[in-house]
Amino acid sequence: MNKVQRHYDEIADIYDDRYDGRRGRSYHQHISDHVMSMLPKGGFLLDVGCGTGLFVKRYIEEGGQAVGLDISPRMVLYGRQRCPESGFCVGTADVLPFRDETFDALASLLAFSYVPDPGAMLAESYRILKPGGQIAICTLSRTVFTSIVPVIYQMGERVGLKKVGVGDFGERYYTNNEIANLLDGAGFTDISVGRCSFAHLNLTDPIFTLARKVEPIIEERLPYLAYNICAAGKKPGS
Ligand SMILES: C[S@@+](CC[C@H](N)C(=O)[O-])C[C@H]1O[C@@H](n2cnc3c(N)ncnc32)[C@H](O)[C@@H]1O
Repeated sequence: MNKVQRHYDEIADIYDDRYDGRRGRSYHQHISDHVMSMLPKGGFLLDVGCGTGLFVKRYIEEGGQAVGLDISPRMVLYGRQRCPESGFCVGTADVLPFRDETFDALASLLAFSYVPDPGAMLAESYRILKPGGQIAICTLSRTVFTSIVPVIYQMGERVGLKKVGVGDFGERYYTNNEIANLLDGAGFTDISVGRCSFAHLNLTDPIFTLARKVEPIIEERLPYLAYNICAAGKKPGS
């Protein structure tokens, strides 16, 4: 079994509780706002690495229809419970089990860093989008701060820490140029890359509280230091 899949199967209940809880909801809403602002409302969306269906729910609330895909069956189970009216499937981001030109929009929140072959995922995303369809990806950015996170997570795994995202998964964090080049290489146009920040939930108080105060300032004034990167593009056509 894939190591990422096993991890998310194991922590699906913690994840869902956490990101739907007080701290997590504000975090997820913040990044969802960014992603939503880069997508057409009211369309048919595929959420790749959908987890427990938080963004699928948001997209539906904004008037659209959505399908979620995730490598972890237990995360998908929570998604089905959260949005029984939507379709969910278990699968990997680089082989999307959909016909060409099916969707108006594709989103991926906090999952792209795990994808071993980002070029393959973007080629698949391009294929299943209709002409004029839009893609929006929010993933961890590579900054002076985040560069050390994988090392901390690897150490966490060695000492047996059971926390969301903690493990040695060969994650990749991206700079603005890297993600723009990947989207360009897959054929997307109208590419935009921005930053979106918010205190990471693994921080303990009072560091979390402090980070929460500081991060909006960073997002506005020093975006190159922000934790997440939000990239968008369009499949050429009508
Ligand atoms: C941090 S969670 C984010 C979940 C959800 N997008 C959200 O915003 O709450 C990362 C998710 O990506 C999924 N994932 C990781 N690698 C994947 C892959 N190659 N294909 C599909 N899903 C993947 C994991 O199973 C997990 O549910």
